[in-house]
Amino acid sequence: MKQVIKAADLESAVKEAKAKNLEIGLVPTMGALHEGHLSLIERALKENDLVVVSLFVNPIQFNNKEDLAKYPRTIEADLELIKKLELKIKNSCSDNLLAFTPTVEEMYPQGEPKEVYHFGPVEEVMEGPRRPGHFSGVAVVVRRLFDLAQPKRAYFGEKDYQQIAVIRSLLAQIKYPIELIPCPIVRADDGLALSSRNMRLSPEARAMAPAINATLEQAAEMAEYEEVDDVKEWVLDTLSSYHEVNDSPNGLKFEPEYFEIVDAITLQPIEDWDEAKENGAVGCIAVWLDGVRLIDIVKF
Ligand code: PAF
Repeated sequence: MKQVIKAADLESAVKEAKAKNLEIGLVPTMGALHEGHLSLIERALKENDLVVVSLFVNPIQFNNKEDLAKYPRTIEADLELIKKLELKIKNSCSDNLLAFTPTVEEMYPQGEPKEVYHFGPVEEVMEGPRRPGHFSGVAVVVRRLFDLAQPKRAYFGEKDYQQIAVIRSLLAQIKYPIELIPCPIVRADDGLALSSRNMRLSPEARAMAPAINATLEQAAEMAEYEEVDDVKEWVLDTLSSYHEVNDSPNGLKFEPEYFEIVDAITLQPIEDWDEAKENGAVGCIAVWLDGVRLIDIVKF
């Protein structure tokens, strides 16, 4: 693995790779890497000649300054994890992986970008109204990464399900011939979706958090015989009353922000399972636990 901090150095490496007709895979991250990110990198290494992994906490996608300040920054540990992965995949050599770790000034040399992206209905649901400006901020940084890395393929985790729909729409708007590769969520043994935010959970909250996935899995079973609205209501009630039914430590509570059952591509909420016959249905949840906002999905 080679670490690159300057955008110009990334551009030179990409130019060199393109001259040799190498295929480039891009894995955009905000660092604080876990097994989920590593699975994206591993897949990208299998499918491309050169992989660019970006590690950049993008300030313009945080609509909450406190969240930005609290976001874990663990660059040295991240680079070690990538090196360990390379050792695990023995066929990977040091020149097929670039870790791009720019500063904010390097990423946005002209100061805060003025560009604004709109994605219509896919951003008008779930995260969109709750995090104004978030998806536009994601699009700005992802487009900049596309321009610098010029990938053939770009890898994104399905935990941020709505982000994938937004990137699909971004690619359609900017007409870049990049293959968007959504990758499945990686879970801890107890089912909790891996997330950089999990490291902010207290031990008690961490022990309680797998109930989110367990509830979603039960919801998937219920979907065989219950109506959409009943499944939605059951998920929200089950998590909201979890602390009463189970003896939760320190009075910890789940506070669901939303649970929506949507068409897997249009992301529009459905009222009847038949509405998502073509694309499938996905349940997306955001829930607060111990001051940490967790998201997860279930495919129906
Ligand atoms: O999913 C993330 O970690 C971020 O939103 C991304 C895609 C790296 C853009 O900053």
